[in-house]
Amino acid sequence: MIEILPQHVTFIMDGNGRWAKQRGKERLYGHFEGVESVRSVLSTSVEMGIKYVSFFAFSEENWNRSPEEVGGLMDLMLKSMKAELDTFLNNGVRFKVIGNKARLPESLNEGIDELETLTAHCSRTTAIIFVSYSGKWDLQQAASRMAADGAHELEPYLATAGIPDPDLMIRTSGEKRISNYMLWQLAYTEFVFVDTLWPDFRKQEYLAALEEYASRDRRFGKVK
Ligand code: FPP
Repeated sequence: MIEILPQHVTFIMDGNGRWAKQRGKERLYGHFEGVESVRSVLSTSVEMGIKYVSFFAFSEENWNRSPEEVGGLMDLMLKSMKAELDTFLNNGVRFKVIGNKARLPESLNEGIDELETLTAHCSRTTAIIFVSYSGKWDLQQAASRMAADGAHELEPYLATAGIPDPDLMIRTSGEKRISNYMLWQLAYTEFVFVDTLWPDFRKQEYLAALEEYASRDRRFGKVK
């Protein structure tokens, strides 16, 4: 029994390429297996009663990867999200995509719209996929829209408006960076970095990270 659970856990899924390389396979094979880790983490989150779980699936910088890898990832995201629809509906999972959607293929945007609409009434857990997202892009678009409206508060203009800031951020594969992810929203987030490569990160590794979170002393800049 874990005593203190986060309300929002976010993941930087890293190490798919290395995982595939270790097995002499194409990078896409690692992404394919990475989807299984997303499924495992999501179902564990639903089981545990975690309200928001989010994944950094594709950054604005990832557009610079080879056309084969980019195209393969777009296809994989579309296919995997469609395949999960029944599971989402049966488990009360609301699905949401956040990012610069103007850059995404039309077929992917159509799939996203459909899933977001069909799961809009689900309220047990919200699963968020960050696609074509970067923290600097988010701050830039929020600032422009805020200025155009003559408004003074940034938060309602962020792409994540309405979603609580992450309590816990888990990054796999031994890298210790935030890589232009949610720059504003991660201000007071607890970070857990693990050496496990994303395709190997499953329920057991997740529970260990949640235990680590429960042991942290969050003070939000105050003295206790
Ligand atoms: C990082 O590993 C992983 C990605 C850039 C892609 C992750 C995307 C998925 C697992 C698909 C998710 C799909 C849905 C529907 C949620 P890397 O390629 O940077 O690994 P490396 O650092 O070892 O090269």
